[in-house]
Amino acid sequence: FSGPATSDEHQSQCNQLTVLVPVVVAAALGGFLVSRYFTGRKKSQVNNCVCKDSAKVVHSFDIEDIGTKAVYCRCWRSKKFPYCDGSHTKHNEITGDNVGPLIIKKKDA
Ligand code: FES
Repeated sequence: FSGPATSDEHQSQCNQLTVLVPVVVAAALGGFLVSRYFTGRKKSQVNNCVCKDSAKVVHSFDIEDIGTKAVYCRCWRSKKFPYCDGSHTKHNEITGDNVGPLIIKKKDA
């Protein structure tokens, strides 16, 4: 047990905190900015991998060409985008999300 701190010891501890707090804050901010830089995307983006070199991802289909059923991805994780390949299941498990495909089918005659 070292007893109560002297005035000099107290001043020394205050000086250490004065240096330590800005260093810790700067390190945390730097870490955040570096992680943002290396992830290369903003938190609000949903598209992580589809046609990232395009300014906008657009697909167009003629309804006559769809056939009796088409299943389109809405989670942006499909390797066969714009078609669903079931990747939404893993995405939902990891994130707790609840996304699924858009299914377009011809009415039964
Ligand atoms: S893979 Fe994206 S909705 Fe199914």
